[in-house]
Amino acid sequence: MTDNNRSDAEPPATVEVALGPRSYSIHIGHRLLDQAGAILRPLLKRPRCVIVTDGHVAVLHLQSLEAVLVASGITTAAVVVPPGEASKSYEGLSSLCDQLLAAGVERSDLVIAFGGGVIGDLAGFASAVLRRGVGYVQVPTTLLAQVDSSVGGKTGINSALGKNLIGAFHQPQAVIADLALLRTLPDRELRAGYAEVVKYGLIGDSAFFTWLEAHGPDVLACKAEALKHAVATSCRAKAAIVAADETETGPRALLNLGHTFGHALEAATGYGDRLIHGEAVAIGMAMAFRLSERLGRCPPGTAARVTAHLGSLGLPTGVCAIRELLPDAAGLLAIMRHDKKARAGKLAFILVRGIGETYVETGIPEEAIIGFLADELAMR
Ligand code: NAD
Ligand code: GLY
Repeated sequence: MTDNNRSDAEPPATVEVALGPRSYSIHIGHRLLDQAGAILRPLLKRPRCVIVTDGHVAVLHLQSLEAVLVASGITTAAVVVPPGEASKSYEGLSSLCDQLLAAGVERSDLVIAFGGGVIGDLAGFASAVLRRGVGYVQVPTTLLAQVDSSVGGKTGINSALGKNLIGAFHQPQAVIADLALLRTLPDRELRAGYAEVVKYGLIGDSAFFTWLEAHGPDVLACKAEALKHAVATSCRAKAAIVAADETETGPRALLNLGHTFGHALEAATGYGDRLIHGEAVAIGMAMAFRLSERLGRCPPGTAARVTAHLGSLGLPTGVCAIRELLPDAAGLLAIMRHDKKARAGKLAFILVRGIGETYVETGIPEEAIIGFLADELAMR
């Protein structure tokens, strides 16, 4: 192992999310869990907190977090929910709220969301509504959660009519992203999270995309320096967008590159193992580039460069592997209409003028979308 790969040679990074009274720090580093007590202590009104996690993370890492907090004089209770997207449901929310109340959570207490995006979204939303709002801290344990879902305060659950349709903006009081936790993450989940890293390059930072083309394999191999650079660059990009547009009335919508397509694919495949969120985003981003090219919005060859990078790291860029689970083009369009990004009944797409140049376009004729989707469904 070279010095560049040694995690102890890498000092932690801190990224600030500047939101006035709701500002907070994102702490990024290797073995940061060891410092969780020191980071949390000043945020606690009394030395007690409740950790919400899922069954997988509980087995692997809960004891370590509890031990660190107890060593800092913080008493803990834990609520363990079933792993998987199904927990982001009315039933999951109701059960979690009851368990948090039974654990004695008071209005001034902090909830610790310790897990991937499912736990962050669910525990964050429970915190938003419990006793009309309690504080929470994100301790993200997947790459996707460290670069995206733990930052920015979007919390929520799914409805039968679509993903994340029930929710609230509720900012955490801190984010602690311990990169060492990613070592136990299955490769498929790591790759899926990498899709969201690529997203930041594609949205507004072509130099970062070029860096990823060279260093993506190091990020996926969890090499210390590359991983920290990728997570910190992603968090900086997200923090800047959130600070400029906390509740998505403008530029924050660009963070949804690929999501109008991706969410429809996730809904059609049942939010299950056949297609996980980051994979859906990878396909959705590739589709957004292909649609942009087809409409003449970006130069020919741009989509091929993006799909070459995603594909070289094992991410899907088209629907062929899930084709038999999907409806026809009109059916997919019907699912997309439930998307939160629809404006005045019109679908909004995040399109591109090139790598790093995204914008929102509404008013694309329905026949053009149907024709595009039909070609995507026929693609091999
Ligand atoms: P996830 O939370 O389901 O985690 C993926 C899997 O990895 C789960 O089985 C989990 O138990 C396991 N896991 C988590 N950490 C682990 C670790 N360190 N070691 C081993 N296993 C571990 O999925 P995700 O990809 O993290 O998040 C997806 C969710 O995030 C979706 O519901 C999506 O809608 C949401 N999301 C929200 C936002 C937002 O801004 N709020 C942004 C992007 C995605
Ligand atoms: N993941 C999109 C957002 O936070 O706005």
